[in-house]
Amino acid sequence: MEIGSIYEGLVIDFTHEGSGVIKHDGFPVFVEGVVIGDTIEFELVEKKKNFGNGKLVSIIEYSIDREEFSFDTGTLGGGVPLINYKYEKQLKWKENKVKQDLLRIGGIDTDIEPIIGMKHPFRYRNHSQIPVGDIDGRAVIGYYKSKSNDIIPLEEDYLQPEIADQIIRTVKDWIAEYDIKVFDKEKGIGVIKHLGIRTNENNEAMLIIVTAFSQIPNKFELIHKLVKECPGVVSIYQNINQEKSKFTYGREYIHLFGQEHLRDYIGDFQFDISPNSFFQVNRVQTKILYETAKEYLQCGMEDIVFDIYSGIGTISLFIAKDVKKVIGVESVKAAVENGRINARNNGVTNSEFYLGKAEEVLPKLIGINKANKVIVDPPRKGCEIEVIEAIIDLAPERIVYVSCNPSTLARDLKILTKENYEVTKVQPVDMFPHSAHVECVILMQRSGSKDEI
Ligand SMILES: C[S@@+](CC[C@H](N)C(=O)[O-])C[C@H]1O[C@@H](n2cnc3c(N)ncnc32)[C@H](O)[C@@H]1O
Repeated sequence: MEIGSIYEGLVIDFTHEGSGVIKHDGFPVFVEGVVIGDTIEFELVEKKKNFGNGKLVSIIEYSIDREEFSFDTGTLGGGVPLINYKYEKQLKWKENKVKQDLLRIGGIDTDIEPIIGMKHPFRYRNHSQIPVGDIDGRAVIGYYKSKSNDIIPLEEDYLQPEIADQIIRTVKDWIAEYDIKVFDKEKGIGVIKHLGIRTNENNEAMLIIVTAFSQIPNKFELIHKLVKECPGVVSIYQNINQEKSKFTYGREYIHLFGQEHLRDYIGDFQFDISPNSFFQVNRVQTKILYETAKEYLQCGMEDIVFDIYSGIGTISLFIAKDVKKVIGVESVKAAVENGRINARNNGVTNSEFYLGKAEEVLPKLIGINKANKVIVDPPRKGCEIEVIEAIIDLAPERIVYVSCNPSTLARDLKILTKENYEVTKVQPVDMFPHSAHVECVILMQRSGSKDEI
């Protein structure tokens, strides 16, 4: 294949990022903006040893599994590459991805439960970070195009509750009214960089205005406007991010208005969330995820449980009343503080939260606390090897692994399967409809400690 030449092909799969996969004489080429079953014309733009990247030229024949909407799905940005693939087909693809990754990477050939999808797979996100930029001198708020710094102006965010649309409109009006300068990366001037919007079950919102500098011109006018036009806004923060990193939020948060925390609910539990705490993005599916984790754990009043990567203690609190003790480990200080407050607010007295990196804290904790069950819920990169080794030393009866990345999950499980553990349950859950991501709850049992659940 030649770079710059045009080829034709049938899309047969998605990559883990959601690009279409075409095989041209057996050579895989990845093309964005297509779905499985499309026959397309593409230009080869990059050729590596084992794969190429192509650019879509035209769709010759549309897939029968395409879904069209009355709005331009492109405005939702690069985070939802599967949006034009029928939802039931997305679910099947994700279920199969979990099965294939476990087999290919982990060498684990096991039955998996049918994936649990959403009844209404829209407006499910309770946290979004939305870039603010400029097109030809005009301020725009919207998501980035895939693999680009170009912003697509957003009218309605079908991934978040309606209150987010209202906030975006209000901020846009304030920018126009007071001629507020958005941050210009090239010149290093201007103020506003991003909006972080968190929402809760009661349709209340926390707005985080990310700025390059400490001053926000006409700040009080903005607060006044938001309070007047978006009554659901109960908390406003400024976050200062002067760095050029890939992270949206910088280290410094300044409380500008209202509540310091946003209170949200999962099942019977309430959680106070700080602007920088991790909280699962999809409330409806999170409840299913936690219920599954709890079922797999088979809680008993003699159990001592480690909740590793505990965030604001959500899983810990979910199981606390059914076990003797639960011990969380988490590296973000504010999340640990939230966990302790959340325990108190929910009347939980048998939980402890330790601050620190799990790979440093856990090896010490296993000498003091003889937990017989373990939950791990790491970020996408999976567990550090020190965490896996500490779990092996601890030798719990059950390990419940909650994962948002089947590849690193399979890598970690492979180590545990060599150490007397067997995967006995796999439950995929669709936490992120229309993205290529899939969440999973896995039960591992130590040989000799297996019983039916
Ligand atoms: C996928 S979240 C899970 C949080 C929580 N279990 C929940 O359901 O909301 C992963 C968490 O791990 C934390 N984390 C990341 N790296 C860590 C590390 N090395 N040690 C401990 N916690 C870490 C993050 O701050 C985040 O809260």
